[in-house]
Amino acid sequence: MTEKDFIPKAYTNTLENGNFTWSSPSNIALVKYWGKKKHQIPENPSVSFTLDYCKTTTTLSFSKKSDSDSFSFEIFLDGKKQDDFKPKIETFFKRIETYLPFLKDYHFKIETSNSFPHSSGIASSASGMSALALCLMSLEKQLLVDVSEEHFNQKTSFLARLGSGSACRSIEGDLVAWGTHKEIEGSSDYYGVKYPQKVHELFRNYQDTILLVDKGEKQVSSTVGHNLMHNHPFAERRFEQAHENMSKLISIFETGDLDAFIKIVESEALTLHAMMMTSMPYFILMKPNTLEIINKIWAYRAKTNSKICFTLDAGANVHVLYPENEKNTVLEFIKDELVAYCQNGHFIADQIGFGAQLMS
Ligand code: PMV
Repeated sequence: MTEKDFIPKAYTNTLENGNFTWSSPSNIALVKYWGKKKHQIPENPSVSFTLDYCKTTTTLSFSKKSDSDSFSFEIFLDGKKQDDFKPKIETFFKRIETYLPFLKDYHFKIETSNSFPHSSGIASSASGMSALALCLMSLEKQLLVDVSEEHFNQKTSFLARLGSGSACRSIEGDLVAWGTHKEIEGSSDYYGVKYPQKVHELFRNYQDTILLVDKGEKQVSSTVGHNLMHNHPFAERRFEQAHENMSKLISIFETGDLDAFIKIVESEALTLHAMMMTSMPYFILMKPNTLEIINKIWAYRAKTNSKICFTLDAGANVHVLYPENEKNTVLEFIKDELVAYCQNGHFIADQIGFGAQLMS
């Protein structure tokens, strides 16, 4: 598949107005995407767990307008008009216009809400952009005669990627790979694919408890962050390492070797932060409580033989990952020992999920 394959043939149907609602999840990367080329092409492959609870629900209402001169849309978050989101959506529309030529024919009302609190420090770009891409694809599906499920998912992921890179991993579940990797059949830089190889049952219903250490705005936007990898002294080696870690994960997913899983996942999280600490300009996105939590997790693991581990996004919050069979004991540990390091004691108990859902 190349970019050209996502340009549709002439539309055969017409549609005056209507609406679609999709609910789309967030995801957490195990091997991190950090660094990109033009048009949101990743510098290295990544793989993520799709989440279940953390999601965005978006209703896209559309009505045909008399001209096709410019984009026309309004956007609401939790029922409130959100004009400050408009530039981001306008940029998204410009990037995807070639692939969805109907965009200027309609006026759109975009109504969106998140299952997680607005100021939780959890990025809504992956779930938000994928939900919007899904609604737009539902509209295109009505304009064409037949669209296979595979094409629908691929193109939605392709479009979501142009909104926010990691959003392309939010369409399906439960494990999604994005970026060409020689051992993952069907993998592509253009869209995410449902991880095609064998996955051990230990990874079924894997738990992710998100500890909200810092609920503030992101200190470094991901656009700035990805750009820091240009001319970064360690970039080339890092991109190779991501390929190697993906290879190692393939056999780990198959055998269920959780000790090896922990090593890759924690190393990936710390490497992501190391890249930010060693770029110019440099940033420290962890907070003292992030480190307190990491040390507590390590001590608990040493003491109990638990398979608990952590990963991080480009921020201070900690994702605590563990197998379902440890749910009760680890949650107890989190409540007793980790919640004290969360802002206002807040955390979100999430787990691996199975992708986006059409609501209406
Ligand atoms: O999708 P973006 O451009 O916001 O980048 C996300 C990057 C990380 O969340 C740090 C890693 C990842 O692979 O999701």
